[in-house]
Amino acid sequence: MEKSRKKFTDLIDKAIATANTMDRDELLFSYKGILYPVTFCSTEVFRAMESFEARSDDVILAGYPKSGTNWVGQILNDLIAIFQMKTQNKESNVNDELEEFPYLEIGDIDKYKRMENLPSPRFMCTHLLPENLPRSIFKNKAKILLLVRNPKDVATSFYHFCNAMSPLPSYETWDDFFIAFMTKKMPWGSYFEYLSEWNKYAADENVMTITYEELKENPVLGVENIAAFFGISLTDEELQSVAERSSFKSMKKNSQKTHGAFGNVLFRKGGVNDWKNLFSEDQNEKMDKTFEEHVGGTKLGTKLKYEVYCKA
Ligand code: A3P
Repeated sequence: MEKSRKKFTDLIDKAIATANTMDRDELLFSYKGILYPVTFCSTEVFRAMESFEARSDDVILAGYPKSGTNWVGQILNDLIAIFQMKTQNKESNVNDELEEFPYLEIGDIDKYKRMENLPSPRFMCTHLLPENLPRSIFKNKAKILLLVRNPKDVATSFYHFCNAMSPLPSYETWDDFFIAFMTKKMPWGSYFEYLSEWNKYAADENVMTITYEELKENPVLGVENIAAFFGISLTDEELQSVAERSSFKSMKKNSQKTHGAFGNVLFRKGGVNDWKNLFSEDQNEKMDKTFEEHVGGTKLGTKLKYEVYCKA
């Protein structure tokens, strides 16, 4: 059911080629106090995004980088294709081109105008903090699936990603990366601030939270819950097939087609607990304390099951 991802791979290939000619300290810029990669984002596009008019039936995935957004994006695109087949009698055509780069904040200034012509339900993904999203998303009550992952695996995944992707600053050592991660030097900002800001929305009826770990533990139940939240009914067979098609193994196998060369970087380990290979005792303590300060005892903090997934 996947659409041609030429637009997706072209944009990433171009960003990589441009970044290869740049110095490390030119790779990020700051907008409203948060760093972003210059090869993917720009002030002009952020400004143009303010005019984006959300619809109540938009399907929005919010997740900090490395939380599994490509994974859940695959699930949501499959669910939308099933929904369209059933309600609009529209056969999903594998030769259809993906209409827009799926991350809302990445593209060109005309993207939001073009998106007005896309049929519902539209899918989009974002790494942004809620306060930096277009206001119409909240005003028009678009549904948001909020994906969170335990912070130690997010940091681990981000470290490997930064060192494999030229558009992001690389790090000589894990210790250097850890300091940057803990001191708000990451593209798209601090993960702890991300969690505490999104926690303010976690109880809203238009927001459903899912963790990477629960989806990994029981993908069929996860897909079932996601489909129910977006009002998409599935047969048992469809449910099984969406879960199967989104497994790490199938997505990695298919990644040349869906993500091009970038797939080799993105589909790394796809598991839980890889942080244990990197964190020192001191780093564990620091992160435990920061997590507690930002989201300890909150709805989102509790949902993350920090004691289960982040304690040595
Ligand atoms: P690792 O680096 O720990 O392997 P994002 O898509 O937000 O950039 O997140 C990338 C992380 O999600 C990577 O984690 C990647 O391997 C993991 N991932 C991608 N597809 C997955 C899948 N189908 N199942 C589980 N994890 C997946």
